[in-house]
Amino acid sequence: VDLAENSLLNKLIRNSLVESSHHVEVLQRDPSSPLFSVKSFEELHLKNELLQGIYAMGFNRPSKIQETALPMMLADPPQNLIAQSQSGTGKTAAFVLAMLSRVNGAEKSPQCLCLSPTYELALQTGRVVEKMGKLCVNIRVTYAVRGNRIPRGTKIEEQIIIGTPGTVLDWCFKLKLLDAKKISVFVLDEADVMIDTQGFLDQSVRIQRTLSKDCQMLLFSATFEEAVLQFAEQIIPDPNIIKLRREEMTLTNIRQFYFLCEHKADKYRALCNVYGSITVGQAIIFCQTRRNAKWLSLELTRDGHKVSVLSGELTVEQRAAVIQRFRDGKEKVLITTNVCARGIDVKQVTIVVNFNLPTNLLHYLDFETYLHRIGRTGRFGKKGLAFNMVERHNLPLIRSIEEHFKRGLSFLDPDDMDEIEKIDY
Ligand SMILES: Nc1ncnc2c1ncn2[C@@H]1O[C@H](COP(=O)(O)OP(=O)(O)OP(=O)(O)O)[C@@H](O)[C@H]1O
Ligand SMILES: [Mg+2]
Repeated sequence: VDLAENSLLNKLIRNSLVESSHHVEVLQRDPSSPLFSVKSFEELHLKNELLQGIYAMGFNRPSKIQETALPMMLADPPQNLIAQSQSGTGKTAAFVLAMLSRVNGAEKSPQCLCLSPTYELALQTGRVVEKMGKLCVNIRVTYAVRGNRIPRGTKIEEQIIIGTPGTVLDWCFKLKLLDAKKISVFVLDEADVMIDTQGFLDQSVRIQRTLSKDCQMLLFSATFEEAVLQFAEQIIPDPNIIKLRREEMTLTNIRQFYFLCEHKADKYRALCNVYGSITVGQAIIFCQTRRNAKWLSLELTRDGHKVSVLSGELTVEQRAAVIQRFRDGKEKVLITTNVCARGIDVKQVTIVVNFNLPTNLLHYLDFETYLHRIGRTGRFGKKGLAFNMVERHNLPLIRSIEEHFKRGLSFLDPDDMDEIEKIDY
């Protein structure tokens, strides 16, 4: 799985903040100093044009991570911060706000530097800067990314630079476009993706070393493996650390069924009978292979269903477009293989069908993938139905699901329309 691609896809398909029911955990650099958190943007005493920019984006109040992160980021003297919270909880918006509020628009030279893992992710962040800073007329942003060729010795006038580590290094040392000593806010975004990319770790460290002692340093990650934390602590001196735990997936609201099927045609009939018997909103169907997915989409199309297929040969943009159309309800059925759907959130569906159960190389059930396919996150999760199509020889897989998750799965006969009709949700 390409982490940068996944991160980009999630941003392209997301239309709102991801809520969290957890509390933010805080580890302060100076535990004796009071801890502030804000419930409104007004409390931050921002420049008026910035406050208006935030409201124009439709933000009414700070997200959970922002409540704590923003006062720390905007404090005087500046404090360093390491922040972790899952994708979509408002990290980017938080540091963009910090950059915009610290920048001096009257001074035409780089003051904020943000590192991103890829060109596309850099652009995404830049768009947020442009939107939020729409009314900050003197503040501009530019991109230090491969392809943006700027001659040696050019005077960069934009105050906010967003770039990938390699090109930023070139701008600093080879082309001398950027004086890192003059940077007052340094952001390392998507640290988890960064450390996954060959060379970025060392390059980021080299950039960080050339910054001045009073430069504010901020690091963000959507995950918090030990390696990310180690890297973070290596690159951010004397940090405050804040964490918002990920919402756990649960099967609490999900009713799970299995159809006993002899072969592919049985599975298909079971699927059609589900469609014939209950009102299906939107459904995702998981297949084992791309070939299977293709076959199924042809069958369903022939029977008059509007389906879309998410598969590995599509580019990121094409995949984003498929998911977007599905999310907009243009297609009611999304067929996919596991490879494509991992890590991508399309959780508004009410029905998930495992045309093939997810198994590992040893043909044991892959519980994590199963949970990820059909599970929902606690408090904000909706109800749902999950249908598993299994051959007789795979029945032990069903038993292992029941045992592992301590929940029963109800048996269904592919041909028993009456039973299927009784399912209500
Ligand atoms: N305070 C807020 N109120 C409402 N919406 C918000 C708020 N902050 C951010 N958002 C929106 O929530 C979504 C996610 O925000 P953002 O991109 O900042 O999250 P993130 O934590 O950086 O995610 P990722 O880890 O994927 O980069 C965006 O659509 C953003 O516009
Ligand atoms: Mg982000």
